[in-house]
Amino acid sequence: MPDEVSRRQFAKLAGLSAAGMASPVSSVEAKPASPPRSAGGFPQNFVWGTATSSYQVEGAVNEDGRGASIWDKFVRIPGKIEDGTTGDHANEHYHRYKEDIALVRELGCKAYRFSVAWPRVFPDGDGKPNPKGLDFYNRLVDELLKNGIEPWLTLYHWDLPQSLQDRFGGWRSTETCKIFGDYAAYVAEHLTDRVKNVFTLNESGRFVYFGYGIGIDAPGLTLPQAEVNQIRHNSALAHGLAVQAVRAHGRRGTRVGPAENIDACIPAIDTPENVRAAEIALRELNAGYLNVIMTGRYTDAFLKYAGADAPKYTEADLKIISSPVDFVGVNIYSPQHYIVASDQGAGFMPLPIPKSFPHMNSDWLRVGPETIYWVPKLAAKIWKTNAIYISENGASGDDQVTQDGKIYDTDRIMYLRNYLAQLQRATAEGVPVRGYFLWSLMDNFEWVYGLNKRFGLYHVNFDTQVRTPKLSASFYRNVIAKNAAGA
Ligand code: BG6
Repeated sequence: MPDEVSRRQFAKLAGLSAAGMASPVSSVEAKPASPPRSAGGFPQNFVWGTATSSYQVEGAVNEDGRGASIWDKFVRIPGKIEDGTTGDHANEHYHRYKEDIALVRELGCKAYRFSVAWPRVFPDGDGKPNPKGLDFYNRLVDELLKNGIEPWLTLYHWDLPQSLQDRFGGWRSTETCKIFGDYAAYVAEHLTDRVKNVFTLNESGRFVYFGYGIGIDAPGLTLPQAEVNQIRHNSALAHGLAVQAVRAHGRRGTRVGPAENIDACIPAIDTPENVRAAEIALRELNAGYLNVIMTGRYTDAFLKYAGADAPKYTEADLKIISSPVDFVGVNIYSPQHYIVASDQGAGFMPLPIPKSFPHMNSDWLRVGPETIYWVPKLAAKIWKTNAIYISENGASGDDQVTQDGKIYDTDRIMYLRNYLAQLQRATAEGVPVRGYFLWSLMDNFEWVYGLNKRFGLYHVNFDTQVRTPKLSASFYRNVIAKNAAGA
C-alpha cells in the first residue's frame, strides 16, 4: 500500500502546482438565505445525523438472495486487507438493525445516512430484482421512521455487483452507468414514498482512483491515467443518470445530490489574495467531478492539464452530468491542500504538508478543523448552492476499553469539538450548511484496514457484537441537545 497520506491525495488534478494553470474564477457572489438561528448555536432545523454504509456494517453477504459485490471478491485477495478480515459478518446489521436504530435514537439524531447494497436488490446488477433484498430496506426505513429518524439513502457506497465488473469491466463501461440509472429508478420508485433525501454515489474521488488507478480498493486495478479519467467521467455520468432517474421515478419533492470527498483547499493564511487562490484551487482540484456536475463543463485548465489523457465525452453527457441537484453533500475529514496565492499559472500554489502535521489514529486523517469552515464557504460561493450537507465527518481513535468497561475517547471529542466549532462559525456567517452526518454510528469494517480502525461513536466488540457507547456518544448527544458546538 502506498504511504497513508498519499492514499488521500486523490488523482483529480492533485499535484498541480502553480505552473501551467490559467483560468479565471467566477466572479458571481453567492447570496445564501440565512435560516433562523438558535441563540449562539447552529440554525434551527439543522439536521444532525450519523452515517454507515452497507458493506461496512450489514454482513449477511450470502443471505436472502444477495449477489456478490466487487468487495466480496477483493477482500479475499491475500494481502489486500490489513488484518485479513472481510465484511462477511461485519456488524451483523442486517439482523441487528433494530438494535442499531435504537442507538441512533439514543443520540438524539433526527437523521441517519445508510446505503443500499445494489447486489441485494439486483443480484446481477440488472435483470430480475430480488424482492427480499428490497424488503430489508423497507424494514430499515420503516423502523427509522417509527423512531422519528429521517432516512437519508445513498445509492452507491462502493459495493458494485461483481456481475457488472465481470461483464462490462464495472465503471470502465457506460453500460454500468445506464444500469445504475435503472437501479436508481427502481429504488426511487419503491422507497421515496418514505425516503425524502437521496445521495447518488459516495466519493467518486476515492473509489475511482483507489479502485482503478492504484488498486488498493476494489476492484484492485492499476489502469493508465487516461482510463482513470474516463472512469471518473463515467462516474459523473452515472451520478447524472441517477439524478434524472430519481426525478422521473421518485415521489415529487424527493431531493437528490452527490456525496463527494471534495478535495479540500484552505487558504494557508487568511488574506484576500489567499482566499481567492483557495477558491480557484477548490474549483480546479475538483474539476473532474464536483465542478463538472455543478457547472456542466470541464474547466480549460483541467482539459489542458489532462492533455491526451482527457476523458472523451459529448455535449449530451455534460447535460446529463449537470442535471440540477437539490444539495451538495461533502465528506470532510482532513485538509488536503493549504493554498497560497501565486503570480504564476492559475494563481494558486498548494504548500507541502510537513511530516509533523498532527493526525488522528489514521495517518491520512490530519487534524485541520478550519477545513470544515473554509470548504463549505468557498464551495457555496463557487457553485452558488444554497444547501450543503456534511455527508461525513469523523475520526479514528485508539478506543481502548478500560478496566471499568468504558471507552474514554477524549481525542475523538477533541477532534469533533474543534470541527463543530468551525462549522458553527460557518453557519453563523450564513454559509448554507444545513446538516451534518457523523462518521460513524459504530465501529465497522473499514475497507483496507479491516476491523483495525475504529470510527464509531459506539464501540463494537466484533466477537460478541456488543455495542458500547464511547464517551464521544455522550458528547455528540449533548451537541445535538444544545444545537451548539460548545458542548
Ligand atoms: C470515507 C468513506 O472515505 O471515509 C467511508 O466514505 C470510510 O466509507 C471513511 O469508512 C474512513 O475511511 P478509511 O479509509 O479510513 O476506512
